[in-house]
Amino acid sequence: MEIAQRHNLIVIEDNAYGLFGTCNGRKLGTIGHMATQSCHETKNITYGEGGALVINDSRFSERAEILHEKGTNRANFFRGEVDKYTWVDKGSGYLMSDILAACLYAQLSKSSEIQEKRKIIWSAYFCGPKGWAVTKGVQLPYVPEDCEQAFHMFYLILPSTQARINFIDHMNSEGVSTVFHYLPLHESPMGKRYNTNNNKCPVTCEVSGRLVRLPFFNDLTHDQLNFVISVVTRLHYEMHETFALFTLGKKVWLFAEITRGADAGATCYSLKEIKKVSSLAAVLTCRIFLTILWRRIG
Ligand SMILES: Cc1ncc(COP(=O)(O)O)c(C=O)c1O
Repeated sequence: MEIAQRHNLIVIEDNAYGLFGTCNGRKLGTIGHMATQSCHETKNITYGEGGALVINDSRFSERAEILHEKGTNRANFFRGEVDKYTWVDKGSGYLMSDILAACLYAQLSKSSEIQEKRKIIWSAYFCGPKGWAVTKGVQLPYVPEDCEQAFHMFYLILPSTQARINFIDHMNSEGVSTVFHYLPLHESPMGKRYNTNNNKCPVTCEVSGRLVRLPFFNDLTHDQLNFVISVVTRLHYEMHETFALFTLGKKVWLFAEITRGADAGATCYSLKEIKKVSSLAAVLTCRIFLTILWRRIG
């Protein structure tokens, strides 16, 4: 928000995944000038399709009402502020039907229960495969200390794209559907149209090739949950890691070569630059390197 203030920008939070989450004690969706909320079928609270615009800055309220009322000032009319209503702007039929509103209301009134259930699912996915994940080079979600997450979904980051393909195949063969996500927006045809400077997002692209989501819905039963975890942790592959440390002038590079065993269906290699550090940090990097080496030898 500080950056936005400095450059006179409006911040719209995409809070599709963040409902009920907090950051530094603030509810997600209440930080930007506005926030968009999704109630699409995969979300914690859903009525099929739909969502909400949350307005945190009263400058935008009146225009939002007009857009919501098909481009008319009908809301002003109902408040007795004008003697008739008419078309004053763009708009569309965004009003929610009573039936959908009832579905939404019922879920909102049980939101604590829903969140509690989702917390159990998330925690089981986090704790169950922990040991397996360490030995297989799989990254589990990281939640910063000052954040309380929304328990919307659970992902794993596999060591490589090939490992993810093998993982999805393995899960499918046991009747568990898992999906990969997310395609980098800046690489989509629409994103390319806006990204005229051809800006790169290398981390986004790299993680995009390795992320997979586990089944996650409010009615996932205890047995189903345990079954999914048992299938995940049955996936076996050998992991050999070879680390190399290169120095050039005052810089130190730590590289890792990761080899996946035949049990994963394929062997893949990736040579990855892990750290490029200044000479001051070199000692620390060397220590990490030696610890890893020690563990490998041990
Ligand atoms: C991060 C994110 N933003 C926005 C949306 C769009 O939400 P909706 O389909 O409700 O418009 C989605 C949908 O899944 C999403 O995941």
